[in-house]
Amino acid sequence: MAPRILPATPESLAEAGRLLATGGLVAFPTETVYGLGANALDATAVARIYAAKGRPAWNPVIVHVGSIEEARALTTAWPEAAERLTTAFWPGPLSIVLPRHDAVPEVVSAGGPTVALRMPSHPVALGLVRAAGVPIAAPSANRFMALSPTTAAHVAQGLGDRVDLIIDGGPSTVGIESTVVDLTSAVPRVLRPGMLTPAALARVVGTAVSGPRPAMVDGAPRASPGMVERHYAPRGTMDVCPADQMARRWGEARAAGIAVGAVVHTCRDAAGPTVHRLPADADGYARELYDALHRLDAAGMELILVEAVPDDPRWDGIRDRLRRASTA
Ligand code: TXA
Ligand code: MG
Repeated sequence: MAPRILPATPESLAEAGRLLATGGLVAFPTETVYGLGANALDATAVARIYAAKGRPAWNPVIVHVGSIEEARALTTAWPEAAERLTTAFWPGPLSIVLPRHDAVPEVVSAGGPTVALRMPSHPVALGLVRAAGVPIAAPSANRFMALSPTTAAHVAQGLGDRVDLIIDGGPSTVGIESTVVDLTSAVPRVLRPGMLTPAALARVVGTAVSGPRPAMVDGAPRASPGMVERHYAPRGTMDVCPADQMARRWGEARAAGIAVGAVVHTCRDAAGPTVHRLPADADGYARELYDALHRLDAAGMELILVEAVPDDPRWDGIRDRLRRASTA
């Protein structure tokens, strides 16, 4: 069955709020990606998120709040770094990990002692948190390991009627998932890179902020269970390719009769309807990346060649997603 999709209006938000308050699942836009929401205080409702996504029970979800006060009620600690980071970056694409308050069911944290909190800046997300009257647990609204959605249509394609309602608020403007930073130890640590860089966080915190551990692979202990190596992936093979090799790789694939698509931002060596040219700045690129990959995936590409992106901290979040999507 096709899922229900409603444009974001006061009426649809009120209905979505009622659905959430009574244990339903609502997909909604945030500035990063679309989320698959449930009442964070209702363990049964949160368990439905895991079922709808096919997400393993060890992967905790982020709790979305409408204010800093609401966040503080869900944790037992509020260190200076939390105060500074939330004052500077909330509402926005930053999730902070803190000790979990007993009010938050264990299933939200995959049984762990911490909880990830985020106040999104998207007006529809904030409106929904307020309409629901409860914090909203929401991972990205895609099946486990698949590409994250940045439009309501992506959600519908990926989840179908596993979700009770999809609120359409237009395309997400940040385009990749939030930066997740762990504040439970003395030195804040980025667990998942995003568009807010460790340097930007460090300037606000006033101390060092460490980056993600590069070698966290499947099977190894996970500080952030979302750090599975293959993730955010299209169905076909994806390869990140240096610009000067695009022409050769493109030509070889075409010659072999492989359905090949490309995502480029400077390279001019590939042309045709399956070549997506993205902006050459990190913000513009992030905004359009998942939509380009969704389109190539939907078009049945067996191989997606992605022109390598700059080795610059502003591109860290993007490089991380490209690496995970291209891991075999
Ligand atoms: O931008 C986003 O963060 C989006 C929107 C919907 O807010 N959400 C999102 O959720 O990307 P999800 O579930 O796809 O990714 C959540 C990430 C995962 O890497 C997960 O492991 C990590 O946050 N995470 C959640 N709770 C955590 C916790 N208590 N400790 C460490 N990592 C946590
Ligand atoms: Mg996700």
